[in-house]
Amino acid sequence: MKHLLCLSQWTSKEINETLKLAEELKYENKNDIRHNHLLKGKSLGLIFSKSSTRTRVSFEVGMYQLGGYSLFLSANDIQLGRGETVSDTARTLSRYLDGIMIRTYKQSDVEQLAACGNIPIINGLTDSQHPCQILADLQTIKEYKGKFKGLKLAYVGDGNNVANSLMIGCAKVGMNISVATPKGYECDEESIKLAKDAASHTGAIVINGYDPIEAVKDADVVYTDTWVSMGMESEKEQRLRVFMPYQVNKELMQKAKNDAIFMHCLPAYRGYEVDADVIDGPQSVVFEEAENRLHAQKAVLVKLMG
Ligand code: CP
Ligand code: NVA
Repeated sequence: MKHLLCLSQWTSKEINETLKLAEELKYENKNDIRHNHLLKGKSLGLIFSKSSTRTRVSFEVGMYQLGGYSLFLSANDIQLGRGETVSDTARTLSRYLDGIMIRTYKQSDVEQLAACGNIPIINGLTDSQHPCQILADLQTIKEYKGKFKGLKLAYVGDGNNVANSLMIGCAKVGMNISVATPKGYECDEESIKLAKDAASHTGAIVINGYDPIEAVKDADVVYTDTWVSMGMESEKEQRLRVFMPYQVNKELMQKAKNDAIFMHCLPAYRGYEVDADVIDGPQSVVFEEAENRLHAQKAVLVKLMG
C-alpha cells in the first residue's frame, strides 16, 4: 500500500484492515485518546482544484489529531494553476512533504503525481473516483449493519465518481450493489470492469441498470449523490430534467427493506436527488457518514504515512 488512487488498487484485505483501524481510532477518539505520536513531525499537503467542506476539514483535523501538520494548497495559489507541470510539482513537493492529498479533475493527474513523486498520494476526489468517501461509507455500513456479505446497496442517480468508487468498494468487501442511472449517465466502463473483477473474487453481485424501483428492491442501503457534480455546472438544466424520476423520496424508500439506511456523501440538494423527508428522516445516517470521513482517513494516513 503506497498510495490511495483508486480502491481497485487495494486488496480486500487492505481495505478491511483499514476499516478495522478506522473503527479503533473512532472508538478511541470518543474516549479522548488521540494517538498524536503516530504521525508526529509528518507533513501532508492538501491540493484542491475544486471546493470542499468535509474532505478539507477532516484531513486537516485528522493530521492534527495524529500529531502531524497539514498545508492547504489551493491550486489557484500554487504554480500548478499557472501551468507548472504535475511532474515538477510532484518532484518539488516530495522534497518537503511526507504525503499529498489531491482533489482535482483528471484521474491521470493523480496517477502522474504518484508516478513522479516519491511520497504517498491520496485521491481526495477526481472526475472518476472518490475512494476516501467510500472507505467512510463502508465504515458506516459496518456500524449500522454489522457485516457486508449478504447485504444489498442500491445506488440511484448519476453514474459519477462516487458511484464508480462505490461499485468497486462494495465488490471488494463482498457486498452486492445495484446501480440505477438514466440512459447516457451510466458509471464508466473501466470502473464497471474493475468492480466486476473484484466481485469475481469476493462473490459480490454488481448490477448496472436503469430502473430505480428494481434497484432499491430489498436493499439494505439506499445511496444517492448530486445530479450535478463539480465541473458539470453547464449541464445543470438538462440534468435536473433527466434525473427527476431518480429522486430518492419516501415512496422509493418504501420499496427498500424496512430497516434500510439512507446514505449521501454530501453536499446534498434537497428537492432534487433526495427529498427532505428522507435525508432529514429517521433512516438517514448522512452525518455519521460525514463524521466517518475523519476516522477512515486517519486510518489511511496511518497506513500510508505511519
Ligand atoms: N463528500 C465530500 O467529499 O464532501 P466535500 O466536497 O465537502 O469535501
Ligand atoms: N459527485 C460529487 C461529489 C462531491 C463530494 C462531485 O464530484 O461534485
